[in-house]
Amino acid sequence: MARQHIVFAVLLPLAFLGLVCPGVVRADAGAAHYMRGLRAKLEYCTDCHGSSGRGYRGFYVMPRLAGQTPEYIENQLRAFLEGTRQSHTGMIMSRVHGIGPAMRSALADRFADLNPRPYGRAPGRLAERGKQIYEEGIPDANVPACSVCHGPEAEGQGPNPRLAGQLYAYTIEALANWDRERGGAAHSKVMQPIAQSLSRSEMEAVAAYLSTLN
Ligand code: HEC
Ligand code: HEC
Repeated sequence: MARQHIVFAVLLPLAFLGLVCPGVVRADAGAAHYMRGLRAKLEYCTDCHGSSGRGYRGFYVMPRLAGQTPEYIENQLRAFLEGTRQSHTGMIMSRVHGIGPAMRSALADRFADLNPRPYGRAPGRLAERGKQIYEEGIPDANVPACSVCHGPEAEGQGPNPRLAGQLYAYTIEALANWDRERGGAAHSKVMQPIAQSLSRSEMEAVAAYLSTLN
């Protein structure tokens, strides 16, 4: 009996230290390493996309990513990687090369959780016409209401992106360059006839309205 106790008293802790602890330590180190990698990537993305992913207008327009649906972000990152979406600012988004699927999904989740106030700075006088287009479409031009897919508050859902708070200049560029930049991806096709049917001033109006939404 006494001997058994000694065996348990000595061997069990040893087994615990020898087998369990290094595993735990390795797992902890792995998780810490991963979190450091994720934080570094997030910092890298927000260098361009603005603190808290709010977007930024400098020489280039950096789109807002905050509050964006993870599915839409992942679709775009994959489209940039596969070349079915072209970056109109040149090679900038080729910088997502080397980011694996797990990291892409983790980054998308982080941006989805952010909610800074909108960047603003759009001409306010256009917003009223923009709201009307957003909520009612343009029946004469066969343009459906944007709210049908993008949500009543432009909050987005799944593959339909959030548009609320997006930078004025970015939304106009996205719509005006649709064919040239996003002709390739299957998930982009649904927007093609809609973007094509909007005049420049209608794009500006709807972009102004969206830029004010929180
Ligand atoms: C050097 C600046 C820069 C860096 C760094 C950068 N981006 Fe971008 N990103 C842009 C620009 C500019 C666009 C607009 C698209 C274009 O270039 O045509 C964009 C577009 C996007 C889009 C599409 C947005 C939309 O509304 O369709 C996503 C998603 C995105 N970036 C995610 C990321 C992530 C995640 C990172 C970090 C791994 C990152 N970006 C790093 C500049 C950058
Ligand atoms: C039938 C559904 C549908 C309707 C209606 C619709 N959209 Fe879209 N929209 C989408 C989808 C899906 C995407 C994402 C496409 C992709 O993944 O490339 C998108 C993307 C966009 C983008 C690009 C967002 C970004 O961050 O780059 C803009 C801008 C946009 N839509 C504006 C509008 C406007 C303005 C209207 C109304 C005039 C409208 N949409 C109506 C489905 C729709």
